[in-house]
Amino acid sequence: EKGGYDHFMLKEIFEQPTSIYDCLRGRLDANAGSITLSGIEQHADKIINANRIIIIACGTSWHAGLTAEYIIEELCRINVEVEYASEFRYRNPIINEGDVILAISQSGETADTLVAIENAKSKGATILGVVNVVGSSIARASHAGVYTHAGPEIGVASTKAFTAQLTVLTMIALKLAYVKGTLSMHRYRELLKELDSVPEKVAWILNHQKSIKRIAEKYKDAHSFLYLGRGYNFPIALEGALKLKEISYIHAEGYPAAEMKHGPIALVDENLPVVFVATKDTYHEKILSNMQEIKARKGKLIAVVTEGDEVASKLCDDVLVVPEADEIIAPLLNVIPLQLLSYYIGVAKGYDVDKPRNLAKSVTVE
Ligand code: F6R
Repeated sequence: EKGGYDHFMLKEIFEQPTSIYDCLRGRLDANAGSITLSGIEQHADKIINANRIIIIACGTSWHAGLTAEYIIEELCRINVEVEYASEFRYRNPIINEGDVILAISQSGETADTLVAIENAKSKGATILGVVNVVGSSIARASHAGVYTHAGPEIGVASTKAFTAQLTVLTMIALKLAYVKGTLSMHRYRELLKELDSVPEKVAWILNHQKSIKRIAEKYKDAHSFLYLGRGYNFPIALEGALKLKEISYIHAEGYPAAEMKHGPIALVDENLPVVFVATKDTYHEKILSNMQEIKARKGKLIAVVTEGDEVASKLCDDVLVVPEADEIIAPLLNVIPLQLLSYYIGVAKGYDVDKPRNLAKSVTVE
């Protein structure tokens, strides 16, 4: 059942080249320059003219939503807000008919997300679902949507469902940008090609992480970790921290790298591992200087870096290397080594990584 892997979580991490490919298949045609998403096409005018898109989700799916906020605002110039479903449903939010709600859920059964969209629907909002489980409650409650097609996810900690969500959300952003005309044809085509190359790049990452087990052993007894990123990689830092908490029971905090000096830097000493998501993008120089600030305080530096980036690598105690990619696509790649790092730390500590204590696969109670 586990296909030769020790755990479902590892199997599902290694399935990602295939699950992402399955998600793109029949939708993205990079050569023809087209994206086919019928659920989005039906409502395209409404979405591009929306006052705002409100993304609603919980946990890992919320992190996919936060990444999508950065991507949709950049590519489509549409106002996007991201809310925790549990906050949104109880705080009497202002919803108008021109609002579009995008609900993201692996299981399609998360109670808070379901009730949040039902409330918004009753106030006239258009509901779009990005859901993995076909025919689930959230899929049925949505006006339209896009399935993530990641296949069943058995490991309690979400891995392949997350990358499938990011894949779908990036396709939605590109589709809307195309309809709205906010991208040059050159840039649009370039991003389609980039997205098309993701399964191959994910396979490359999975084949190049031989050192992760050793890194996991080295840091497994740390009491706490900090995960830092900027821009498109800030949500990935949050997701890396959540994965570590769930699987290894080590306290971890994700933070925007620049916020560090507003408080968390007080935690840094020679016992604190700090994981940077530091691939080459618009923010690169800035994140390098954040890394130097940690190093000056003797924190242990681990970073996800772009292949061949000697400058970033030299600063670090340990590196997790990923291939070069456009910054819009990078989150999809950068999360993979962080999934593996938490997996191997959990295993090194002897925990049941497929069924972490206190967690359920779908949270159908509030
Ligand atoms: C984390 C995890 C949870 C879920 C959250 C939402 O690894 O699995 O944080 O992401 O409970 O679940 P769905 O996506 O099913 O609505």
